[in-house]
Amino acid sequence: DGFSADRLFNQGYSYTYDDVIFLPHYIDFPTDAVNLSTKLTKNIDLYIPCVSSPMDTVTESSMAVAMAALGGIGIIHYNNLPFEQAALIRSAKSRRIPLISDPIFKSPSDSIDSIDEFASSPCVFVTESGNSKSKLLGVVSKSDWESLTDKETPVSDFMLGSPVSAPSKYSFEQAAAFLAAKKLDYVPLVREHDGEVVDLFTTHDVQRIHGYPKLGLPSLGPDGEFMVGAAVGTREQDKERLEHLVKAGANVVVLDSSQGNSIYQIEMIKYVKRTYPELDVIGGNVVTVYQAQNLIQAGADALRVGMGSGSICTTQEVCAAGRGQATAVYKVSSIAEQSGVPVIADGGIANSGHIVKALVLGASTVMMGSFLAGSNEAPGAYDYQDGCRIKKYRGMGSLEAMTKGSDARYLGDTSKLKVAQGVVGAVADKGSVLKFIPYSMQAVKQGFQDLGASSLQSAHDLLRTKVLRLEVRTGAAQVEGGVHNLVSYTKKSF
Ligand code: XMP
Repeated sequence: DGFSADRLFNQGYSYTYDDVIFLPHYIDFPTDAVNLSTKLTKNIDLYIPCVSSPMDTVTESSMAVAMAALGGIGIIHYNNLPFEQAALIRSAKSRRIPLISDPIFKSPSDSIDSIDEFASSPCVFVTESGNSKSKLLGVVSKSDWESLTDKETPVSDFMLGSPVSAPSKYSFEQAAAFLAAKKLDYVPLVREHDGEVVDLFTTHDVQRIHGYPKLGLPSLGPDGEFMVGAAVGTREQDKERLEHLVKAGANVVVLDSSQGNSIYQIEMIKYVKRTYPELDVIGGNVVTVYQAQNLIQAGADALRVGMGSGSICTTQEVCAAGRGQATAVYKVSSIAEQSGVPVIADGGIANSGHIVKALVLGASTVMMGSFLAGSNEAPGAYDYQDGCRIKKYRGMGSLEAMTKGSDARYLGDTSKLKVAQGVVGAVADKGSVLKFIPYSMQAVKQGFQDLGASSLQSAHDLLRTKVLRLEVRTGAAQVEGGVHNLVSYTKKSF
């Protein structure tokens, strides 16, 4: 019944996730017996197969912290200066709690202009430099400021000196217990070795995080800190950036290119392995066996797969190169598996079914952009459009992102004429990844159960041994597989 993957993907068609469907198999274990732990690279293990994409509207510190807290990993983008990217890595690595706090800082001689300064924070921190980089001198709360008659009074005159703080290494449970024991509404979390204020932890965070599904095991590096990845290009000057990233503690680097099978990337992989033998390097992007073989031979510790499959990508239209993502993942995984090189299925993930398909077709992890964009942890502020809360999401090959510096990914760096390979858009507010990723993982486990696979390895074995069968869905079958034949209604009309 149905086709083996080997037969289905060797007919000369390029299939994407929606084109194919697995035939259900046999269930002899409960959903919770499904184990989604996996490998990001040859040497890095993850508890969940989720990676956030190195895009400037997806992964900065808050996303990296949340992904690591969930047992996945975030890859910090490099559409910034090397020291800025390094600061984002350091900031993520010095935290242990997935907060989205944005503490406000003042220097002692500053005053507080208006109540708006307390809009997103119950207090203002006072440091010598007026930013997080120097020791905490005092704290000003909203009520302290409200009781002032002369609002121009410098903060040093009415701040609470020697404020209580807690170590930034505290886990959520430790920090929550600390607040409760000291009967505080908030506490600054301070990095022990340099006194830098890393976060503001409040009773509101305690309630918020308690409301989410319980966190599993986090992704911790050998240093005991959250694991964080970083993207880097393959130009000569990227070697200097790489040094910043390594010094900041990046656990893995992604060589970011839309067509990774190039002399530049091969030389960069060799350079990374030669210069930083302990650092794992992810090569890509690739979609063919030939491309994959070259990068594996060069020493890549994992391969990132996908060309033009991303929701904001126009590469296939602009350059006429790429591949349907299901075919690309299957083909590259088949060859990478022989060398023990994990595959990251990058782009095109729009629902949990796509994650199941990517993983069963051979990937070890999925990398997501739009699926995570619009979340509380994604960079940028929310905006409103037609009554909808939205956040910007843009391709790194869009003119807007390239103007900020990401053009090297699309090999446009030496050209005076920039051609966009991506677009700028927006996605709806999705809430916190701490909530929707655990739900998505539960859905993925149910998908694995339907296929009789209790782990990624068992899914890959069932596919390779032709036990798992697939079919191509016609256009009508795809319509049937989605919600159909309903009229939209609001509760009001009943
Ligand atoms: P999703 O579908 O998750 O895709 O939003 C994210 C992936 O898309 C790639 N990417 C791009 N591809 N033009 C492209 O052709 C772009 O401007 C662009 N920006 C990101 C990237 O691989 C990312 O992980």
